[in-house]
Amino acid sequence: MKPVSLRSFAKINLGLCIGPVRRDGFHELRTVYQTIALHDVVHITLGRGRGIELRCSDPRVPRDQSNTCWRMAEKMLQALKLKNRVVIEIEKRLPVQGGLGGASGNAAATLLGLERAAGKQLRPEDRLAIAAEVGSDVPLFLIGGTVMGVGRGEEVYPLPDLPAIPMVVATPEVGVATPHAFAEWDRWTAKEYGELTAEQASDRLKRFGSRVSTLLSVGSTLSGAPARGGSRVGSLLLDLVRTGIENDFERVVFPEYPELRDLKQALRRAGSIYASLSGSGSALYGLFRTKEDAKNAAARIVSSGTPAQATVTLGRGQLRKKTFLAG
Ligand code: C5P
Repeated sequence: MKPVSLRSFAKINLGLCIGPVRRDGFHELRTVYQTIALHDVVHITLGRGRGIELRCSDPRVPRDQSNTCWRMAEKMLQALKLKNRVVIEIEKRLPVQGGLGGASGNAAATLLGLERAAGKQLRPEDRLAIAAEVGSDVPLFLIGGTVMGVGRGEEVYPLPDLPAIPMVVATPEVGVATPHAFAEWDRWTAKEYGELTAEQASDRLKRFGSRVSTLLSVGSTLSGAPARGGSRVGSLLLDLVRTGIENDFERVVFPEYPELRDLKQALRRAGSIYASLSGSGSALYGLFRTKEDAKNAAARIVSSGTPAQATVTLGRGQLRKKTFLAG
C-alpha cells in the first residue's frame, strides 16, 4: 500500500510551572503549549502480515518498543481492530531530547497516519485517551495551536490561537532527559523550600493559571488590535514579558548546563522580546516582533557556533491544513 506522509510539527512551552509529585509519580503541572512550523516528516505504511517496523537514519532514534511511535502503533492496531504490518519511517529534522516534543509529535503523527491509512477514525475522546497513555506531551499535538496543558501535561484545552509570532529556535548539541530534569527539580525544591506544603505548591500553580488568564484577557491578544500602538505581535510579546510567565525547568537545567543560560542571554542580546528554555530543554527559543528580526538573530546565533533556525508559531488551522502531505 502507498504510504501516508505527514508533517510532525514541534511545540514550545510558553511558561511551565511544576507542581507537587502525584501518587502516580508524575508531577502536576501547568503550561501553555504552542505548536511551531518546524517539523519532522513521518511516513506510515499498512501492509499484509504482522509486526511493526521502524525506520530512521538517525542513530539516536530507537527503533524498538521504547520508541513512542511503536507504542502508539501497537495501541492503534488494537483500537482500530487491524491485522496488518505497520512500517513507520521517520525523517528526523528536530533535535532528539530537545524539549520541542519531537518524539511526542511523531507519535501523534503515527496515530493520524494509521487512521488515514486504514480509512477509519476513532472518536476524538478515544484518540486523546490513547495519546495520553503514550506520553504526557502527545495529546497537545491532536489539538494544535495554543493549548493549555494541565494534569501531567496530558489534559489539554484549546486556547484562543495567538497570532503567528516570528521566532528563533536554537538547538545546542546537548540533550536533556526529562525524567532527570524532574528529579533535579525535586532536589532543588527540597533544598530551597524544605518540604513544599500542598498549599504552597497549589498556590504556585494557581498563580501561573491567573497569569495565563491575564495574558489572554489583555486587549492585544484576542482583539487583534495592538494595545498601545506598534504591532499586534509586539504588544502581545510585551504583555507576555509583563505577566512574568517562566519555565521552572530553567532553575535546574541552567546550573547544570551554563551554556544554555548563556544562549538565552544571546537570544536576548540578538533582539528577542521574550526568550526561554522549551520544556526541559535543551532547545531555547526567542520570540521577535518581525520575521526580519528573527532572521538576523538566527544568523547571529549560528555565527556564534550554535545551530539555530528562524521560524514562526503555527496556529490550529494552519497545523490541520499542513499536516498531511499530498501523496
Ligand atoms: O509522559 P512522559 O512519558 O513523557 O514522561 C516521561 C517521564 O517524565 C515520566 O516517566 C516522569 O518521570 C516524568 N514526568 C513527570 N511529570 C510529568 C511529566 C513527566 O514527572 N508531568
